[in-house]
Amino acid sequence: MSSAQDPRWAVVTASSQGLGLACAEALALAGVAVCLNGRDRGRLKAAAERLAALAPGVPVEWVAGDLAAPATREQLCEAVPAPDILVLNVGGPAPRPVAEMTAKDWHEAFDALYVPPAELLQRYLPGMRRRGWGRVVAITSSAVRAPLPGLAASTVGRLGLSGLLRCLTAEAAVDGVTLNAILPGRIMTPRQEAAIAREAARAGISEAEQLARFEAAIPAGRLGRAGEVGALCAFLCSAEAGYITGQHVVIDGGALPTLF
Ligand SMILES: NC(=O)c1ccc[n+]([C@@H]2O[C@H](COP(=O)([O-])OP(=O)(O)OC[C@H]3O[C@@H](n4cnc5c(N)ncnc54)[C@H](OP(=O)(O)O)[C@@H]3O)[C@@H](O)[C@H]2O)c1
Repeated sequence: MSSAQDPRWAVVTASSQGLGLACAEALALAGVAVCLNGRDRGRLKAAAERLAALAPGVPVEWVAGDLAAPATREQLCEAVPAPDILVLNVGGPAPRPVAEMTAKDWHEAFDALYVPPAELLQRYLPGMRRRGWGRVVAITSSAVRAPLPGLAASTVGRLGLSGLLRCLTAEAAVDGVTLNAILPGRIMTPRQEAAIAREAARAGISEAEQLARFEAAIPAGRLGRAGEVGALCAFLCSAEAGYITGQHVVIDGGALPTLF
């Protein structure tokens, strides 16, 4: 990754494991200093140590706290006041049928999936634009393009963020700032392992059988690797990706049947 200043700084939210950590790892390997975030302090510290071992000499910071809490977002802005790169990841909601959703549930989904990334984007974008360079990548879900049963809260909350990114794309492009979203399909992470265990228990089959069912529904014949999402994120954050903006990039092994 070629860079105008050394090192560039990235804030990667919800990043002590899974896709967020994979994005942080790929950025650190590209020489980008990274600030991690997550609620579990022990997991976060272990992730920071893993990053430091993976990319010796690259600065790593972390802010422990729930992204849904305004104080956590404030701490992130204090820890890294002027990042070059913002990777907006969040914890995913538990599956729930629409019929069971209360008004409180909808508000909680919005507060978890939309408000934290939207506020951080508002806080950081003006500085990126002033400095004439920036990369924003939201990690959302292929459920934005093809809704899944039980995941209405995920689709609805994340669609708001899709809209916000697109609203800001044109004005930010003038100043060298790109805004894109990555839409993962099934990628093997701790959350996905939990989904396999949950679905296996529901179907009364083994986890290996459940995994095989998931794999059979994916043209690539396997689940994605978190590192593949990290590599895509690092590319979208590179200088070379400066002409890609306002896009939603699906990474799902060909699972979505949609044309675009
Ligand atoms: N993996 C997939 O197949 C897939 C597919 C489509 C979309 N997604 C979405 O991509 C995102 C990441 O998925 P993943 O599979 O990597 O999940 P994961 O394995 O559960 O990891 C989630 C990460 O986010 C942190 N986190 C969760 N809630 C948080 C909060 N409120 N504040 C701060 N940090 C928080 C977790 O740490 P703590 O628990 O310690 O906070 C952890 O580091 C989720 O939104 C998920 O729905 C995943």
